[in-house]
Amino acid sequence: MSPLRVTRTLPEDATDAALRADVLNGLTATPKTLPPKWFYDARGSELFEEITELPEYYPTRAEREILTARSGEIADASGARTLVELGSGSSEKTRLLIDALTALEVYVPVDVSESALTQAGRALVAERPGLTVHALIADFTGQLALPETPGPRLLAFLGGTVGNLLPAERAVFLARIRRLLAPGDALLLGTDLVKDEGVLVRAYDDAAGVTAEFNKNVLAVVDRELDADFDPDAFDHVALWDPEQEWIEMRLRSRVAQTVKVPALDLAVDFAAGEELRTEVSAKFRRDGVSAELAGAGLELTHWWTDSEGRFALSLSVAR
Ligand code: SAH
Ligand code: TRP
Repeated sequence: MSPLRVTRTLPEDATDAALRADVLNGLTATPKTLPPKWFYDARGSELFEEITELPEYYPTRAEREILTARSGEIADASGARTLVELGSGSSEKTRLLIDALTALEVYVPVDVSESALTQAGRALVAERPGLTVHALIADFTGQLALPETPGPRLLAFLGGTVGNLLPAERAVFLARIRRLLAPGDALLLGTDLVKDEGVLVRAYDDAAGVTAEFNKNVLAVVDRELDADFDPDAFDHVALWDPEQEWIEMRLRSRVAQTVKVPALDLAVDFAAGEELRTEVSAKFRRDGVSAELAGAGLELTHWWTDSEGRFALSLSVAR
């Protein structure tokens, strides 16, 4: 068997139908919304990688610091022969884990971005002889069918991506995750932590404007896939801290009154001047909340590690 296998769990026409349904529902809702998974076409994945290197975007560096210090402990605690990673992107930080997991046989990266998955998969099998990579093009918010691989399993969900789900979605998601695990399998979860508002807002509204470009990329995706006529320059990037929900909210604010046509949906969408479209939330967490959400899904928190500045946390929990 080739050490790299790529499986598409959703046929392309199903992806297209899902995009149509999301855009139709989101643009006819009040307030208007678009779900975040559509950010990540090839250009979106590239822009996200640029975000991870921005001086203001601390989460990637903070999480890498924890992984560098703790991968040995994580490996000892899990003994994993299979590592599954959701929203794996470039798998850049994951290499620290892969190198520490001495019993590892199979790595299963799961992502909606085919370009990110194949690039990372090719690089990994070249760098790590002996490792089988079974990449899954799939939506982690849906029902995931994982390949049959040897246990124990470690399931990693890094980057604080869990914060991009709304609280109700998160509960459903964690319950589904629990069902993918056998007793003794573990979940390694990266969560960004509540902190100073200025630090948070700057991380999502950088001086170089990369995050603004990333946020507007979702409009380019809708233009290309559904033949819409969004003009990304007619929208401003907005990042706001919501102190009640404890999340950063990303929006696109219409600079003028305008009508956007989406011919593939037979839709014309009116925007008032200043009207905002919500594109993403990025929830920030506290230890008690994370522990309670995990417990609610049948996962027991066993380890909690933060970076030296207490900005970001990695937790390890086990399925009972
Ligand atoms: N884990 C990497 C990337 C985080 S960015 C890191 O920590 O740097 C979020 C990743 O999740 C992107 O690669 C994106 O393509 C993927 N993603 C977003 N929504 C998804 C979904 N619903 N299903 C599967 N992958 C998704
Ligand atoms: N998981 C990342 C986060 O919440 C995703 C992200 C970073 C993001 N910057 C963004 C999403 C800007 C939308 C817009 O930190």
